[in-house]
Amino acid sequence: MIASKLPNVGTTIFTTMSQLAAETGAINLSQGFPDFDGPLALREAVARHVLGGHNQYAPMTGLPALREQVATKVRTLYGRSVDADREVTITPGATQAIFCAIQALIRPGDEVIVFDPCYDSYEPSVQLAGGVCVHQQLSLPSFAIDWQRLADAITPRTRMIVLNTPHNPSGALLERSDLDRLAELIRERDIYLLSDEVYEHLVFDGREHASVLRHDELYQRAVVISSFGKTYHVTGWKTGYVVAPPALSAELRKVHQYVSFTGVTPLQWALAEFMAAHPEHLSELPGFYQAKRDLFCDLLAGSRFSFTRAAGTYFQLVDYSTIRPDLNDVAMAEWLTREHGVASIPISVFYQQAPQDLRLIRFCFAKREETLRQAAERLCAI
Ligand SMILES: Cc1ncc(COP(=O)(O)O)c(C=O)c1O
Repeated sequence: MIASKLPNVGTTIFTTMSQLAAETGAINLSQGFPDFDGPLALREAVARHVLGGHNQYAPMTGLPALREQVATKVRTLYGRSVDADREVTITPGATQAIFCAIQALIRPGDEVIVFDPCYDSYEPSVQLAGGVCVHQQLSLPSFAIDWQRLADAITPRTRMIVLNTPHNPSGALLERSDLDRLAELIRERDIYLLSDEVYEHLVFDGREHASVLRHDELYQRAVVISSFGKTYHVTGWKTGYVVAPPALSAELRKVHQYVSFTGVTPLQWALAEFMAAHPEHLSELPGFYQAKRDLFCDLLAGSRFSFTRAAGTYFQLVDYSTIRPDLNDVAMAEWLTREHGVASIPISVFYQQAPQDLRLIRFCFAKREETLRQAAERLCAI
């Protein structure tokens, strides 16, 4: 018998639901990935770089041309000048960046505050570092931070707070005023921030992404993480990046160096080239996904589900309490997949301890119009 270091980790709900969708032939709106491809020019660039001989190790910190592109983007969008050599690191996915940041900064006994519902990769990373996650529930129905509860949760052992905006699974956004409030709360304390901003470009209705990169005070103690996979519709490329002040970047790189050493070379060449040639991709992204959100929500308006349109991300939460109040959300997601042919994700799995009466499931609308129309037709028939 192996004494597991992660005894509570099993197959994730994302794998389970995607498998169930495949088995039953259901439309898969569960796991967060597009059912369409990234830009053709980007994919062609990868092929060209593979054929052109860019197939050996990239530098440990990432291809300089790609780090420069990230620095340009950070300057253009968030008004921060970062040193591409000392503050930008390319990683094989945001997940690896999260893992490295936590291993680099968390010691045994340290506490890390996470906000439930929260993305599932934070806690195992903290546990492997010997730390403990302190779960704070976001207030329903807005998924806002309860500032009093957060203040009460901070102890001398608190070493990190994990932010995620735009927020998976709720689609909620933090505001600049939230960042100011957080800065005030931790000003005198030795606490790092891990800011998971992988959905930074998926912000709708003209709202602004409150990046920690815009915040001078918080940035000094922050590791800001993003994902090319989300931004360029290529989640399977598992390529992301970290922006952090030089001292924090140096610590993170010590771990990254021995977890993977570097990211995939031809992908980095292609991304650097595409970012330089197509800066408009970023400004078009909110409109692109907002149109999908609106199509899906307009169609669902004829259903018995109730919802508030997601402010960001490519996820839409819906309340099903008028349809099957007797089912908890895991049972509901399974029933919906088996009986009505649409796979979703239950929200309780994002909680350490979900509220008993939670009746919310998550749909991913990063799908082609025909997929969304077909799914909505099935959902409206319930
Ligand atoms: C909140 C959040 N963080 C990180 C990731 C991981 O991104 P990547 O695929 O680049 O590892 C995801 C992917 O679903 C996510 O939703």
